Amino acid sequence: MRLMIFKTYQELSVAGATYIAERITRFREDRPFVLGLPTGSTPLGIYRELIRRYREGKISFSGVVSFNMDEYLGLPVGHPQSYHTFMWENFFSHIDIRASNVHILNGETRDPEGECRAYEEAIKAAGGIDLFLGGLGEDGHIAFNEPFSSFSSRTRVTILTDNTRAVNARFFDGDIKQVPRAALTVGVGTVMDAREILIAASGRNKARALRDAVEGGISHRCPLSCLQNHPRAMILCDDAATAELEVGTVEYFKSLEQGQTDGESRP
Ligand code: GLP
Repeated sequence: MRLMIFKTYQELSVAGATYIAERITRFREDRPFVLGLPTGSTPLGIYRELIRRYREGKISFSGVVSFNMDEYLGLPVGHPQSYHTFMWENFFSHIDIRASNVHILNGETRDPEGECRAYEEAIKAAGGIDLFLGGLGEDGHIAFNEPFSSFSSRTRVTILTDNTRAVNARFFDGDIKQVPRAALTVGVGTVMDAREILIAASGRNKARALRDAVEGGISHRCPLSCLQNHPRAMILCDDAATAELEVGTVEYFKSLEQGQTDGESRP
C-alpha cells in the first residue's frame, strides 16, 4: 500500500486529480476507461480540479465509463441528497462524460437484489474497474460497507449503522430520522477487484480509521484495511488525518515518497 501525505486538503485534491487525469489520458486499450467514483465531501476538491482541467481542454471524459459506489435505498433519484443528484451537480454536469456511460445504483428500485446483480454484471461487461476512487467513513467504512462487512461481499443492500447515519445527518437538516436506514453499495470484493484503488482521507475525524487501516491488522472491523491485500492501492491524506499514526510510520511513508520523487525504486 502506498500512503501519500500532503500538508493541506487542497494539495491532496490536486494530487488526486493529477493521478486520475494521467490514468485517463494515458489509457491506450481498445475500450473505455472504467472509473469507480464516490460521493462525500472529501472527493469534492478532486472533482473541482478535474472540472477545471476539463474546462482548460487538458482532459476529456468522453472515453470514460463510470460506476458510483453506492446510493441510499428508498430515496428518489431526484431527491436533493440522493447520490444521483450529488454526482450530476458536483461533477457530471460540468464535464463531457456521456450520460449513457454513467452508472449509479437506483435507490428507487422495486427489486434491490436484481438491481445489485445487474450492477455487478454491468461492471463485468465494461471490462472491470480500472481505477476506483473512494473516501472512507469515520469508522473505516468504504462505500457503504460498514465495519464487519465481509471482504468477499459484492454489490448488495446494506443496513447503515447509527454512527454513519448520525455523521450523514448533516446533509438532512441535521435530523438523523431523515437519513435512510439502508443503502445499495458495491461490496468490499467489488472494490478489491478494481485494478487500482485510490482513497482520499482528509481531516482529524478520519485519523482513527486511517490508523486502523494502515497500522492495524487486516480485519473486517475496519473495512478499509482490505487495501493491505491489494497490489495497487494508494491512500492520499492530509496532515490532519495522520494525527493517530505513529511518528515513525509517517516518516517512513514520507521518505518512500521522497524516494519516488528522487527516482529511487520503492520496496
Ligand atoms: C458516505 C459514503 C462514503 C464516503 C463517506 C465519507 O458514508 N457512502 O462512500 O466515503 O460518506 O464522506 P466524507 O468524505 O464526507 O467524509
